[in-house]
Amino acid sequence: MTTPIKGFSKLTKNEKIDWIANNFTPDPKATKRILKTYWNTDSELQKLHDEFIENTITNYYLPFGIAPNFLINGRLYAIPMAIEESSVVAAASRAAKFWLDRGGFKTEVIGTEKIGQVHFIYHGDPQKLQKFFLQVKPKLRADTASITGNMEKRGGGIVDIELRDKTTLIDGYHQLHCTFETLDAMGANFINSCLEQFAKTFKEEAPYFSDFTEREKNIEIVMGILSNYVPNCLVKAEVSCPVEELNVSNSISAEAFATKMIQAINIANVEPHRAVTHNKGIMNGIDAVVLATGNDFRAIEAGIHAYAAKDGRYISLTHAEIKDGIFRFWIEVPLALGTVGGLTSLHPLSKMALEILQKPSAKDLMQIVAVAGLAQNFAAVSSLVTTGIQEGHMKMHLLNILNQLGATQEEKKELIQHFKRHTASHSAVVDAFEALRNGK
Ligand code: MEV
Repeated sequence: MTTPIKGFSKLTKNEKIDWIANNFTPDPKATKRILKTYWNTDSELQKLHDEFIENTITNYYLPFGIAPNFLINGRLYAIPMAIEESSVVAAASRAAKFWLDRGGFKTEVIGTEKIGQVHFIYHGDPQKLQKFFLQVKPKLRADTASITGNMEKRGGGIVDIELRDKTTLIDGYHQLHCTFETLDAMGANFINSCLEQFAKTFKEEAPYFSDFTEREKNIEIVMGILSNYVPNCLVKAEVSCPVEELNVSNSISAEAFATKMIQAINIANVEPHRAVTHNKGIMNGIDAVVLATGNDFRAIEAGIHAYAAKDGRYISLTHAEIKDGIFRFWIEVPLALGTVGGLTSLHPLSKMALEILQKPSAKDLMQIVAVAGLAQNFAAVSSLVTTGIQEGHMKMHLLNILNQLGATQEEKKELIQHFKRHTASHSAVVDAFEALRNGK
């Protein structure tokens, strides 16, 4: 067993690699070689990546692909996606093409409100706290002037600060519930800086409020932090067409397909096991674009799943209906995204992804990302209710398996042809590969 290490972060990159390879891997030489294979030969670019996080030893690649032909509000987009799952980009492209011929996607930003809270404990008279809050509120804003100046010049800033009494939940628990407009920035640093200043001012001013008793003056700040639950930072995307135009496959009528799509959504709305997988498919599209554009996919994931459960039950994020012969399929999701600041301009590929998307505002990006989620769900559910997903999935996965088996280019070519005529499963691919290798 290795002993704990002190001062790991102070080691050079090579020393870190030596330590990890020598202590934790079966073949240290191979480990060192592989880790270094992924270093960028451009030392400046490598340095940039090294400095994104602490203790970087190499880069971790994900494929960066393009799903073309997305018509969104009459404008054509090619959507960059960073994702490892083999069928996602192909599925998005298929859905984009399908809806391109049927009027494309229509989207609308419903709101852009971001939220942050200062959580604190106050034991005392609620009316006195309310009076203190109203008195100190202008100072809360004034003390953040150096943080908010630039944002206000551009039309954003602090929207409101509210005092919320949560004492029925936890003894003494109150909040400053704050709302923000952060325009094209995701705004995490801006919001957190404001909240920490609110907390400081609030705590420091309390002892000067003469109505408070000594006990009441002692406001205990627990923390100030933004919330990734942003139900009012909301976007809607939809597609629609006459039912008879839903000719997705020769094996099912347009009417039967429309009905099955609605049944699939109904099932996700009553069965959480299905809803989670249904929404996971949506996140395949959403995360891939969020990641490609340098946004925080963990924040987006957390916020979206909370939204899916906002009425006390975890349900589908997409909806479908047939009305007057028109099939309508839509999504409503909270998306707090940025197109300036953070990684968006720092990571050369995120910057390029935003260029490919024609330099969107944060509102534009919300709409594009929602469309990617809707398209992905349409592709997944339409496969599920017709052929099943394995046929397409295994075709896409075929190359991964062949690479794992060490197939040559010639062998890959031949086996890809073979599996155009045969059903691909892991064992069928292994068998066919071995037969080919052994000249059977
Ligand atoms: C796989 O990554 C995603 C799906 O399971 C989504 C779904 O079931 O709707 C195909």
